[in-house]
Formats: sequence, C-alpha cells, structure tokens
Amino acid sequence: MTNLASPASKTDARTAPSGRETGNQKVMNELIHGHITDDHICVLTFDRPDSSANIFDRATLAQLNEHLNFVEGNSQLKGLVITSAKKAIFIAGADLHSFSRSAQAEEVRALVEMGQSVFNRIAKLPIPVVAAIHGACVGGGYEICLACHYRLATPDKVTKIGLPETQLGLLPAWGGSTRLPRLVGLPKALSIILAGKTLAAKQALKYGLVDDLVPREYLVDVACQRIKTAGQQLRHRGLKLITVATNRTLVAKFLNLRLQADLLKKTRGHYPAVLKALEVVTRGATTSISDSLKQESEALVQLVQTETCKNLIRVFFLQERARKLSGVTAATASPLAAPSQADQRAPSQPEVVAPVKQLAVIGAGVMGAGIAQWASARELKVILRDLNPELVAKGMAGIAKLYEQGVQRHTFSKLEARSGLDRIFPAAAEAPLRNADLIIEAAVEKLEVKQQLFRRLDELAGPRTILATNTSALSISEIAAGTRHPERVVGIHFFNPVHRMQLVEVIFGQRTDPQVVRRAVKFVQQIGKLPVVVKDSPGFLVNRILMPYLIEAGHLFESGARVEDVDEAMLEFGMPMGPLRLIDEVGVDVSQHVADTLAAKFSTRLSAPALLSKMLQAGLLGRKNGRGFYLHARNNKEPDVNPQIDQFHIDARAANLSREQLRTRMVMLMVNEAARCLEEGIVAEAADADFGMIMGTGFAPFRGGPLRYADHLGAAQVVAEMNGLASAGAPRFAACALLQAMAATGKKFYEEQGDHV
Ligand code: NAI
Repeated sequence: MTNLASPASKTDARTAPSGRETGNQKVMNELIHGHITDDHICVLTFDRPDSSANIFDRATLAQLNEHLNFVEGNSQLKGLVITSAKKAIFIAGADLHSFSRSAQAEEVRALVEMGQSVFNRIAKLPIPVVAAIHGACVGGGYEICLACHYRLATPDKVTKIGLPETQLGLLPAWGGSTRLPRLVGLPKALSIILAGKTLAAKQALKYGLVDDLVPREYLVDVACQRIKTAGQQLRHRGLKLITVATNRTLVAKFLNLRLQADLLKKTRGHYPAVLKALEVVTRGATTSISDSLKQESEALVQLVQTETCKNLIRVFFLQERARKLSGVTAATASPLAAPSQADQRAPSQPEVVAPVKQLAVIGAGVMGAGIAQWASARELKVILRDLNPELVAKGMAGIAKLYEQGVQRHTFSKLEARSGLDRIFPAAAEAPLRNADLIIEAAVEKLEVKQQLFRRLDELAGPRTILATNTSALSISEIAAGTRHPERVVGIHFFNPVHRMQLVEVIFGQRTDPQVVRRAVKFVQQIGKLPVVVKDSPGFLVNRILMPYLIEAGHLFESGARVEDVDEAMLEFGMPMGPLRLIDEVGVDVSQHVADTLAAKFSTRLSAPALLSKMLQAGLLGRKNGRGFYLHARNNKEPDVNPQIDQFHIDARAANLSREQLRTRMVMLMVNEAARCLEEGIVAEAADADFGMIMGTGFAPFRGGPLRYADHLGAAQVVAEMNGLASAGAPRFAACALLQAMAATGKKFYEEQGDHV
C-alpha cells in the first residue's frame, strides 16, 4: 500500500495534543486517510482524530472532495473503497451542531448542497466504488453508501444501518430520500425513512440496504477483491435505477394517499418531518435524481427552522450529554450540593472510576429480575438474592423469559442468552458480598424492611462496595441512616420495564459521597442506560412531576369529565398515553400508594382523590386484573372504556370543560412541579428536568419537556393561566415563586439562543 497524498498531509505538520511534533506520521486534522493498494485501488478510511466516531461536517466533506479530486485525476485507479477505522462506528451521520446552532436557512442549504454534490461525485465516478461498512452507519453515513455502487457490511452487533433523520424532525437530504427508493423500491424505502429505522446487519441485507455480509477482518480485502473480479459490472449494477412497479407514478400517488392518512392519525400532525419525507420520497421516486435532490434540500431547509426539529435535536443532545455525564458537576456543583457531611470532609478528589464487574441484586421480583437480566446481558456477574428458593426460581424464570423474548427479537443469539443466564448466581440464602462492587436493593417498598436490610448489607459488603436502593419513593437518607457508612448509600432508580426504559435516576442523600454518585453514574452508563442525577426528595424527579398530573386527571374524572376526554386531551398534546390509561397500566394500587406518599409530603397542594381507593374496593386494579378505567383484553387490543366507571363521578363540575381546558390544568401542574424541582435544587439544570420527563414518561419530545414548553408559552402566560385557576377556587394551581419571578422579569429557563442544550 502506498500513502495517498491527502489534503491534510499537504499542510505543515502540526503539533499533537501532547505537544510533540508528529511530522508526517500522524497529521492533526486528517479526517480521512487515503491509501492505494498494489492493485491500484484507492481506499479512503474515515478516522476522525481523538474521537470514537466519524461524523460529516464541513471539514470532512471538504477533505472528501479533495480526495475525490485526486481519484478523478488518477486514470490508473481501478476502484475506490470507502471504509472506517473506528471500532464501532462507520459514520454516525451529519454533525447536528451544524443544524442546531447555525440554523440560518442559507447556511443549511449550503451544507446540504455541499453534501449532495460530494456524494454525486462519488456516484458518477468512472470506477466502481464499494462501501465497506463496520459499525453504526446512519443518516449521512448511510447516504454516502447509497452513492456508492456496492455495499458490504460486517455481521457484527455494532453494525447498524439506516436513516433515522425523521426521528430528529429532519429527512434524509444527502440523497437518501432519492436513492433508497431506487435501491430497494418505494414501499421498503418508506418503511425505513418514515419510521427513522436503523437495522441490524442481517436485516439490512434482507431489506437490500447492503449487498453482502463479510467478517470484519476480511472486509476491505473482500471489497478490493470484488472490484478486481467484477469491476465495471459492479458499477453498472449500482447505477441501474429500479424501475419496478412500486416506483411508478400511480403507485407512488396511491402509497402517498394511504400513508398520509395513517401518519396524520398516528402523529396527530405533531411531526411534520414524517409527512414531508413521505411527500419528498414519493414524488422523488418518479422524477429525475437532480429534481428529487432539489426537493430534499428545500424540505430540509424548511424543517430545520421548525421548533419541533429544534426540540428533537435538543433531546438527542441531552441523551448524548447523559452518556458522557461524569456525575461530578451534577453531584457536587451548586445548587445540587446541599451542605452534606461528605462535603464538609476534605473534598474527595475525582478518581478514575473502574467498571462494575460483580453486582448483587437483592429481591428477585419484577424490578430485581429486570435489573439482573439487563446487567447480566452486559457481561456483569450478578448474584440474585431473594428470601426462599421459590421466589428466586420465580425471578430466574422471569429472566429466562426476557432472554427468550430477546432471542425472538434477534437482540441476542441463543448462545448469548445462555451465557447471560449463566452469569446470574441465584441465592436463596445470605451470599458473600465482600467482592461485590455494587449491591442494588429491590425488595419490598417498606422503610423498616429496607433499613434493616441496609444495616445487614453494610456488614456483609466490602469496604468499596456501593449500596444502592431502587426505591420509588422512600428517602435515601432515611434508608442510609441506620448504616455505619451512609456515605456509600445512593439511589439507583430504574423504571419499569427495565429492558425498555432508558432513564435511571441516580439519587444522592444528605450524606452520600460525591465519589459514590460518580461511580453510580458510571455504572448506569456502563450498562447502556441514561442517568439523571437527582437530590433526595419525595418522588425524586420523575414521579414527583408526574404525580400531580395523574392526581389532577383523577380529580377531573371524579368531577364529571369523561375518561375519553381526559385521555384524549393529553394524547392531543403529544403524550404517548392518556393519564387515566397510565394509572391503569401502573396499577390503581401502586398509583394510590405513590399518590398518598406524595400527598402526605406536599399536603398543602396535593390531595389524592378518594376515587382510587373506591376503585380498589370495587376490585378495579387496572391492567393487572383487566379492569380499571378501561377493560383490558388479553390480546393487546386497544382497551375500551369501562362502562361501570361512571359510577365514580362525585359531581359534574368538570363535565363541561373543553379538552383544551382539561389539558391546561394537567399540563400546568407538570410545568409548575418541574419549576419547583429546579427551584429546590432537586436537579441542577432545567435540562435535567426536561430530560427526565421525556425519557421517564414520554413527555411529548417535540415540545422539549415541561420547562421548554413553559419557555414556548412564556412564564407570564403560564403564571396568568395558573393564577387564574388558583383564584377560581383551586389553590393547588398557584404558580411557584420561580415562575412568578420569571414572569416578572421576562426570564426564560433556557437563555441561549439557537443552542439546543
Ligand atoms: P416485587 O414485590 O415484585 O419484588 C420484591 C421482592 O423482594 C420479592 O420477591 C420479595 O420476596 C423480595 N424481598 C423482600 N424482602 C427481602 C429481603 N429482605 N431480602 C431479599 N429479598 C426480599 O417488587 P418490585 O415491583 O420489584 O419492587 C421492588 C422495589 O423497586 C421497590 O422498592 C419498588 O418501590 C421499586 N420500584 C418498583 C417499580 C415498579 O414499577 N414495580 C418501579 C421502580 C422502582
């Protein structure tokens, strides 16, 4: 292999981060390395320095352009291979900062057109171009592959291929909306683009997104080999447009009409990108490539300006932030750092946090089994303890079922599921815990039980073992109080079901050592979940904000509002499920327990409706016994409203409220409680509260969370609405001091203009 004179290597050698001159060995800013094989095949390897990911920004596109100058000018070349040097990422798409900060229409248009023109150059090269994909290949990363003439991918787990743009309020605009339907036909292309799907390698092969799978160690060699043996055939095959029936005008029109109605129903018009993508893809399939590319570009420029897109990109950045959060700022910086004993000691120096290898889970019920399964699937050894062999066996059976479902969904191979199960050590008696890095308690929700358990765990644990509780509502500080080492007690609160919910609250009590918080945060990241750091307080963050909303839904129903209206009002707002349906799903008993716990702590503004205990007395437990606000069939069919439920109306005060009025009441209570969490330092930043609600409850992501929504309305309007309701005889609506102050000064929760985090 000879080194290709890359654009960056023409520049002077620069200083590496260490300050050492690197000469020509490794040149800073070289984002793509070029080599030419002895067979005259050029291999371009994306390898962004100091990063585990490749992304497309202006600089990368410019370098690619220069490499293409070289390729076009070198008549001896027989082919081009595009690949990546990263372990788990091929190219992770466009740099979203370009769309978030500089969302000026002309700049966005220029970037889109730059990408389109570079990828067009690839498509038009006179030599065959093969994409050799290993790792995440999404968005712009897959659009470059679509411009290639042939695509190979590794079958590895990290290889995921697709076009997720619509999930960010965008659409594929570097040729993805134009070329995918030509590669796989309109119906398949639409199913991927409209859902923003990414597929595992095997599925991608099935869909036709890639042409073949090759083990990683041979990937580039096989790519070169295919060029040598098939040569121009590869190129002609790649250039041939699909002319199958699915891409004809009439079919495209029919698909457009049919899907439009479906999508409108599903998204309630909240996600304009999906409809725009449908229009661009169906129209583009029956026009020329250049016309279709123009439509892509026009549509993207429009979408980037929408608040929906800005909020969805912001949610993406919040997820990235949670993946990188160190726990240092969150747990030790004001306003979160309540003066604690831990803080009064000499401040502990941040240390390198070793990954958790040995985990113990106490309690093999719904949550304990869920946590044990999730952690064991991520290579951790797990001791799973319950009170007797039957309870442990029940937990293990639940875990085996989760693995089985994972195998059916192709998340695990049979062997991986078996090895995962084998990493769990069931314990029906006290097990040695000295070597555990972390113990998570998920026993019954009773303070005395947990206090007693923690005293014992404290004795059994090693000196560096973290003691965590998965409690939903009990105080971390009270649980820690009886132990000799309260500084190592922390809350690690998973949501149900563990395998589906990404958010985990990491809760620090009065005496939790910040180092322990850091280690807990790292653990959550280690197992692929997203942490939010929260100060110990009733309901922590998510349940605290959610509960006033659910309680209000109960009050509105009690006062004569119809189940359909209460739930529909919030579905129209963009919640994934109405609040009364959610009470059914969580369980009327559990909801009542949490409502009572919070009402006891915040008695001046929260009172649990009598409704829930009346429902319990009547045997209405929600989904768990099939009867609640709804009648739940076993076959997962959408449930019908329970005709008996109207007997629980106590008056008709809310009977004539419009859905808009119902919605205002329920939403304002969430906004107010989120603002209180910020005011009281339960979370460090507005973004934490918004992130927690979006990830923990599905709060309409396109609205950016309750505090972002408050900014959208303006604090003055929020306070006017709330105080109006409060003065009409409902003091629970009184706006908190923070909102009032913001209304008076015109301040916002997010001051930065244009930046999304
Ligand atoms: P569960 O009732 O399904 O399981 C609790 C298990 O703990 C039972 O198997 C019980 O035998 C065992 N247990 C009780 N005392 C024990 C002891 N001393 N040693 C070992 N095992 C013991 O309860 P679930 O739903 O799994 O909840 C567990 C914890 O997680 C509770 O604190 C709950 O508040 C919390 N949580 C529950 C959520 C849910 O949706 N179920 C969501 C988030 C947190």
